[in-house]
Formats: sequence, C-alpha cells, structure tokens
Amino acid sequence: MQKRFYITTPIYYVNDKPHIGHAYTNIVADVIARFKRLDGYDVKFLTGTDEHGQKVEKSALQNSISTQEYVDKIAYNFVKLTEDLNLSNDDFIRTTEKRHKLFVQNIWNKLVENKYIYLDKYSGWYSVRDEAYFAEAELIDGKAPSGASVEWIEEPSYFFRLSSFQDKLLKLYRDYPDFIMPESRKNEVISFVKSGLKDLSISRTSFEWGIKVPNDDKHIMYVWLDALFNYISALSEDDSCFWPAELHIVGKDILRFHTVYWPAFLMAAGIKVPKKIFAHGWWTNNGEKISKSVGNVIDPYEIIDKYNLDYFRYYLLREITLGNDGNFSEDSFVERLNSELVNKIGNLIYRTTSFIFKNCEQKIPNPGKYNNKDQDLLNYAYEQLSIIRKLIDKQDIKQMLEQIVMLSNKANIYIDEEAPWKLKKTDVKRMHTVLYILSEVIRVTAIFLQPFIPGSAKNILDYFNVQLRDFDTISSKYSIKPGLVIDDPVIFFKKIETSLDNGSK
Ligand code: ME8
Ligand code: MG
Repeated sequence: MQKRFYITTPIYYVNDKPHIGHAYTNIVADVIARFKRLDGYDVKFLTGTDEHGQKVEKSALQNSISTQEYVDKIAYNFVKLTEDLNLSNDDFIRTTEKRHKLFVQNIWNKLVENKYIYLDKYSGWYSVRDEAYFAEAELIDGKAPSGASVEWIEEPSYFFRLSSFQDKLLKLYRDYPDFIMPESRKNEVISFVKSGLKDLSISRTSFEWGIKVPNDDKHIMYVWLDALFNYISALSEDDSCFWPAELHIVGKDILRFHTVYWPAFLMAAGIKVPKKIFAHGWWTNNGEKISKSVGNVIDPYEIIDKYNLDYFRYYLLREITLGNDGNFSEDSFVERLNSELVNKIGNLIYRTTSFIFKNCEQKIPNPGKYNNKDQDLLNYAYEQLSIIRKLIDKQDIKQMLEQIVMLSNKANIYIDEEAPWKLKKTDVKRMHTVLYILSEVIRVTAIFLQPFIPGSAKNILDYFNVQLRDFDTISSKYSIKPGLVIDDPVIFFKKIETSLDNGSK
C-alpha cells in the first residue's frame, strides 16, 4: 500500500491581504508536500482561510461592506496567492463553507454528548487581534503578550473542560517526543500546561459572525474551536484515511492553540491526534517586527515582480533554518541568490551545456570508462538522496538546499580540475566522459531542486529531455541518455544586477 502523507498550513484570517509571513508558511508546506509526492507518497496538502470571529467582523465593518462580501473578497486573495506561489495544494478550505460548518456542529454535539461542555458565564480579558482569552497575570502593561489590546468581557458562555486534560496532554508530549517541534519550543508548551489549565470559554453572545451553537443560536462558537477542525472537515469520506495528519506547519504565534487546545478537543471528541506540529519562526523587516501600524509589511508580490517567484522561494527556504526567526533584507536576498543559485548551480549548468553545444555537435556525449574521480562524484550525487530524505523528516529545509549547493560546488571543482577545454586538444574521449558525468550530475541536481523551485527545475529537466523525475530515478540506472540533442544553452538563473554593478559607486 502506498504511504500517505497529510500536511497542512494554518488557515489565514481574512482580515487583510496576504504578506510575506503567509507566503512563507505556504511555501514551506509546499516543499514538503512536493518532496513527499516525488518520493512516492500519496500526499494531501491543505491550506485555506479562517473566516469567522470578531476580528474578521470588525475588519468588514471598517471596510463598510457586508461581512460575506468582505470575506469573499479577501479569501480570493489567498486563493490567488496559492496560484501565484505555484503551490501544489490539493484543496483550499474556507470555514464559511457548508462542509465545514456542518462538520463543526457535529463535533459540538459530540463534545456535549461526551460531557466536555457546560454552560456558565465568562468574565475576563479578550484580545480580538489574537482571538484569545487572557488571565490577568498574563497581561503585560495591560496588554496581551503579543502587544494587542484587550477588552473586558462578561457574558454567558459555554465552556470546554480543558482542565481535565492536563495529565493527558503531558503524557502525550512525553509519549510522542516529536509531537511538538522544534525541540526548543516544546518546553514553553509543557510549562504552560504544567502551570495549570483552566476551562476554556468556547462561545460568545456579543457578536454575530460565526458558526451557531446547535440548539442555542444566541451563541456563536469560539473561532478557534471552529477553525482548528478545518484540518478534518476538509477531508471527504474517501479521504478520511488521511487522518491523523503527519504534519501541521504553523507559525510560533499559534503553537499553543495547536499543541494544547487542538489535541484536547480531539481527545474529547474521541479522534486521533496529529503526529507533529512544527512551529516556524517569525520574519522581521530589517530587524523590525512586521506590522501594519509601523507600515513595514513586506508584500510578496513586490519581490516576485522585481525578481521572480523561484528566487523568492529559494531565498525564504534557504536563508533561515525552519523554526528560527529570520530577517528579510534585500542585500541578503541578492547575496544569497547570486552566490548560490546563480554562481554555483546556474554556472555549472551554463558552463557544461555551452561547452557541449560547441564541442560535441550539440549532443550529450558518449562516456568512456569512468575513473575513481568520476565515480566518486557520481556516488556523492546519488548518496544525497538518503541524506536529504533524513533531512526532510526533520523539516531541515535549509540544510537540504545546502546539500544541493555542495553537490554543484563539487561539480564545479571537478570541471575546473578536469579542464575539458584542455582535454579538447589532448584527449577528446576523456573530454566526453567528463562532460557526460557533468550532465548526469545536472540531471540529479535538477531532480532534487523540484520541490524548492519547481518552475526552474522543470525548465532544466525539459531542456535535458528528462522524462522520469521522481526521486527513485536518482541512481545510475536512470542515467542521462548519451546522444541527446540539446538546444542553445540557456541561462536558467540570471545574475541579479545591483546598482553597485552598474557603476554608480
Ligand atoms: O493565526 N513571519 O491566522 P493569521 C512568519 N487564523 N510567519 C508569519 C508572519 C511572520 N511575520 N506573520 C504571519 C491565524 N505568519 C489563525 C490560524 S489555524 C487553525 C488558524 C504566518 O492570518 C504564520 O504561519 O494570523 C502564522 O502562524 C500565520 O501566518 C497566522 O496567520
Ligand atoms: Mg495573526
């Protein structure tokens, strides 16, 4: 039976247009989904939008259009983003869809049936921006830890018996050490749970925009109870075998919701918990927190338009280790792209193909016998598969790209040392072998690059007329065909010219 792999992104609030942070989470999840597909898994990759709650209702009001019109408009931007980022998501869930609402109402009934819900009255602090409740002691200078303002609310509310899950959650973290990743974030969750869990208010009566509580329609469900279940409501009956998910990718801001509330809701409903929650870090803009009020929000479209999508993807994936915070700066962008994708990978391809084009009658040459050096380079290339496979299961995307860059670096050293331009005069047969080896390394490199920069990788593989592109073709058995006619050499990765290069020093 084919192995399944279900991966999700958070569903984004439709209160504003997408920014670099949303693009980042999406691209990370896309790389993992694409990797697993190429590695033979039956993959389901879900993303979507979180359309209920007070925050969304408020934004709609500010924009003076009906809430439904507003959410349709903003949700469209997020759908469009999936296309513009070349995401391979299999579905896009909107929490205003019928399939979701019905599912969540059924869950509510189940929680009632299992005696995890009771009616009482909530009085306490609430942050609309975070859509979260805070205890007095958690406030910092009268604000939520995120800096968002809080308001005092007092209203009838249904409660979820979160307090009865303390030990079960701690056991879950103990029994499944990979449940919360990266390791460095696990302790903050454990100490939060150890400090004691209070029952959670899961309904509100002071606004309208949300899923109604069954049999008590003055109450609107707490948006996080509604939202988290998207991960399952999106699975049709045929797809129910995808649950439990292998991986929820989230930002560190919403780790607590995913590692405390979510497994507790699931256990209460008698549903299996997901295998892993991975919390990535936060992007800043030249060292500053990205915020609408500061006016330093980075628009992914600006970068894609100025450079191109694959450069944007490469930078985000390569610049920081997943889990760490990262700083976006155009200087580091240019440096990263020019020094790696352009000078190492692009250069290897261009040098090799233009030399073959000129000196081998535009054909991939027939190799002679390999020497040790040839064999070492090829072995190194093929061995990367098992290394990269281990890295993906740790979500170490940065290091996966490092391995690919190292491979092209080795091939560049090989070309310098073997110097086909000299062999041309002394040993044409040897020259053919060297160029063949290089072509094969490029084939392997391009196959590896597919999850990260799918558009460019496709162009390279098309150029070399490589038909089979799954990872199981990373072996000598599928080695590139000699005799293949190649077109004019192409610069797949153009150097980014900066004003310094233009002489305006
Ligand atoms: O929290 N750097 O939605 P949201 C990196 N609807 N990632 C960032 C980022 C930044 N500066 N800013 C945002 C919600 N993100 C809920 C989720 S899930 C059941 C419900 C990314 O629109 C990151 O993935 O506020 C973060 O977790 C997510 O956007 C929050 O998106
Ligand atoms: Mg947010």
